[in-house]
Amino acid sequence: MALADALQYIEQQRQTNIDQLKDFVRIPSISAGADGETNDDLIRAADFLVDQFGQLGFRAEKVQVSADTHPLVLARSPDFSPQRPTVLIYGHYDVQGVNPRAAWAVDPFAAEERDGFLIARGASDNKGPSFAHLKAAEAILAVGDQLPVNLVFLIEGEEECGSRAIGQFVAAGGLDEFAPLLCTVISDTSMFGPDRPSLTLGLRGIVYTEIEVFGPKQDVHSGLFGGIVKNPNQLLVDALAGLVDAEGHIAVAGFYEGIEPLSAREKSLYAALEVDEEAYCRELGVAALAGEREYPLLERRWTRPTLDINFLAGGSPRTVIPALAKAAISCRLVPDQDPERVQTALEGHLRDRLPQDIRVEFKNQHISPAYYLDLDHPVVEPTLKAMRTGFELDPVLTREGGSIPIVVDIAARAQAPVLLVGLGQITDNWHGPNERFSLRDFHRGTRTSAALLHELGQVS
Ligand code: BES
Ligand code: MN
Repeated sequence: MALADALQYIEQQRQTNIDQLKDFVRIPSISAGADGETNDDLIRAADFLVDQFGQLGFRAEKVQVSADTHPLVLARSPDFSPQRPTVLIYGHYDVQGVNPRAAWAVDPFAAEERDGFLIARGASDNKGPSFAHLKAAEAILAVGDQLPVNLVFLIEGEEECGSRAIGQFVAAGGLDEFAPLLCTVISDTSMFGPDRPSLTLGLRGIVYTEIEVFGPKQDVHSGLFGGIVKNPNQLLVDALAGLVDAEGHIAVAGFYEGIEPLSAREKSLYAALEVDEEAYCRELGVAALAGEREYPLLERRWTRPTLDINFLAGGSPRTVIPALAKAAISCRLVPDQDPERVQTALEGHLRDRLPQDIRVEFKNQHISPAYYLDLDHPVVEPTLKAMRTGFELDPVLTREGGSIPIVVDIAARAQAPVLLVGLGQITDNWHGPNERFSLRDFHRGTRTSAALLHELGQVS
């Protein structure tokens, strides 16, 4: 394979690729459960991809895993050969909702371009980065080369709402025919900075749960019944109080069990990355940063576990004792923490602080362990080399604080590491108004993907 030809083709196709990405983001494939979702738009996005893969000669299909899930797009490259290693590329075509709509400067699905950015819901999370890989495969095939590896694309439509279909697919052995893979490649993380491409060595795991505390059968007047009935809002805030202290230490017994200190090697990797506390404060609109002061900022963001109360609600702003108080809590987990134990310990901690005669319900929604790629793994060097070629910059090694729960299952089932090559920026407004994706990063990401396939074809 002549990588130079493919890169030149990508150069020629730069505008065409952008135009096609715009067609993709114009499909408002809002994830189930977010406001404004329509099943038809999710299907249209899946069909768009099937059509794109079909044009490349891929064997592409929508996989309907069960009746109430959204289809996976599964596409295999032409000339699949047992002689070559197989690489899986994962992405998602569902996008977040757009509310509050008024906070957007443009129509979220009009694919507006401003100052080199494509502003649209899903542009960066995750249509643009996934599409870059598709366009890289196209380039290699277009210049008359065989792909250096067998490629399987698996693009789901439920990442933003729990990844049910892909979870079932992987658990039922949907990837087993391809195992062992050489590796999986995912671009659903961020770069360290605008000109700082990064290979992400780890993702935090997650335990996300909702708690409901019930009181009287309906909201009642606090003048009539105040003084004789337990107030769910009060009970809930009492139970939640002290979960995390002002220094970021979490009070749940056993929460930190199993965690090993960061290796000296990783510590020095992250210590060498520039961080500007003031810039973080400005970006976030806060006066000061918080958390475990004994750990540097990047270690706190990437390598330390957290507990956050994401949502609190109960009653109404009038003189009532509410029937119901609710909270959502998420913990981000690090390697060697056991998510099941954390979930049980958290539930136990809260139940111990709530009266026995009160109805309390827990709804556990997301649970997954942290993902970690060993720095010494033989795919790390070729990936860094490909990033150097694609970006014409030296990449850095990072971790990330977010979670992609399916990553751990894919790695286990496919018996191969997952390479997280992010193309987004932390300033891309994921899940918020005015989501954007740098078209330059789209281009450099497409180049990187072509170079990566080239490099992976030489690993054996
Ligand atoms: N693209 C993100 C994952 C991500 C976030 C990677 C931040 C790196 C940094 C993904 O779409 C996402 O939002 N994941 C959820 C998963 C959760 C709902 C189970 C997350 O991390 O909150
Ligand atoms: Mn995402």
